[in-house]
Amino acid sequence: MLIKIKQGWEISENFVTPEHVFANRRQFMQGAIGAAIVAGAGVGGAALAAEPGDPTADLYPADANPAYGPLDRPVTAEKLTSTYNNFYEFASHKQIWQAAQALPTRPWEVRIDGLVKKPQTLDIDTLIRKMPLEERIYRHRCVERWSMVVPWSGFALAEILKLADPEPEARYVRMETFKNADIAAGQKQFWYPWPYQEAVTIEEAQNDLAFLVTGAYGKPLAKQFGAPLRLALPWKYGFKSIKSIVRFTLTDKRPVSFWEQINADEYGFWANVNPEVAHPRWSQAVEEPLGTRGTVPTLLYNGYGEQVASLYKNMNGQNIFM
Ligand code: MTE
Repeated sequence: MLIKIKQGWEISENFVTPEHVFANRRQFMQGAIGAAIVAGAGVGGAALAAEPGDPTADLYPADANPAYGPLDRPVTAEKLTSTYNNFYEFASHKQIWQAAQALPTRPWEVRIDGLVKKPQTLDIDTLIRKMPLEERIYRHRCVERWSMVVPWSGFALAEILKLADPEPEARYVRMETFKNADIAAGQKQFWYPWPYQEAVTIEEAQNDLAFLVTGAYGKPLAKQFGAPLRLALPWKYGFKSIKSIVRFTLTDKRPVSFWEQINADEYGFWANVNPEVAHPRWSQAVEEPLGTRGTVPTLLYNGYGEQVASLYKNMNGQNIFM
């Protein structure tokens, strides 16, 4: 039976908190960040760090791919994007960046299995060094209505498929996050269906926009962003962009993702961004870029329609925007 839980991230706190309280909270956070930097232990240091001595640090910054940036809006400040995160494994609020530092990201193995000719388990550093790393500046639109622009580094999701050589009957790629409640206290919340999982169709996975992220802001990925390997699907609501992936499974049956298991009426499989299709409890017409107190119009497919709209022709009445 599906359980109905009120999600902390369903409504961004500025939509539920009176403006002056929210503004004060942000000022407080910025003050706290400044103080931490002065103390030499905060956002400028530990919070933004990947695993100390990250064995792939020499690969960054990766060459920028000019097809994906600069955008019509500025990159969001790293101190904002790395201190305001959704990572339910650590807690169901946004201030998880310190708790996430407990995640050991080395050694880290990634399993590729299911309907593939070459199932395999790869050490993360071997995998990253095999791949053609590049930097792409992407929009990110959370279903809660906040948004950001981030310079991610990584490689196309399609590269994983090439490595494993899918069987012809494979139709979906299911991805799974680590599970370890001793490190990630959020996973003690037994009413969530851990581990976090997400899925896309093979065609979506092969679209060039589908990007596996290993770095951000010219460095190896910080833990709160989902180190050492996360997804970025910029045309879909942010919950599809699964963090800290340990497994890719190719399958012929459509998987039911983490949030879909919790509330399928509100968080569907497709989750493509559309300003004209409201969430059942709020409008999706506008978004608030992190660090601003205003809103800007949300774009169909988050502005990536040219690259992805053709994936959704002839969908026979399926709600591709939920
Ligand atoms: N992946 C895992 N494993 N756990 C999560 O809680 N949250 C999702 C997505 N990936 C989440 C996750 C949601 S709701 C969003 S909006 C983005 O991560 C947030 O990414 P960010 O924290 O880097 O902004």
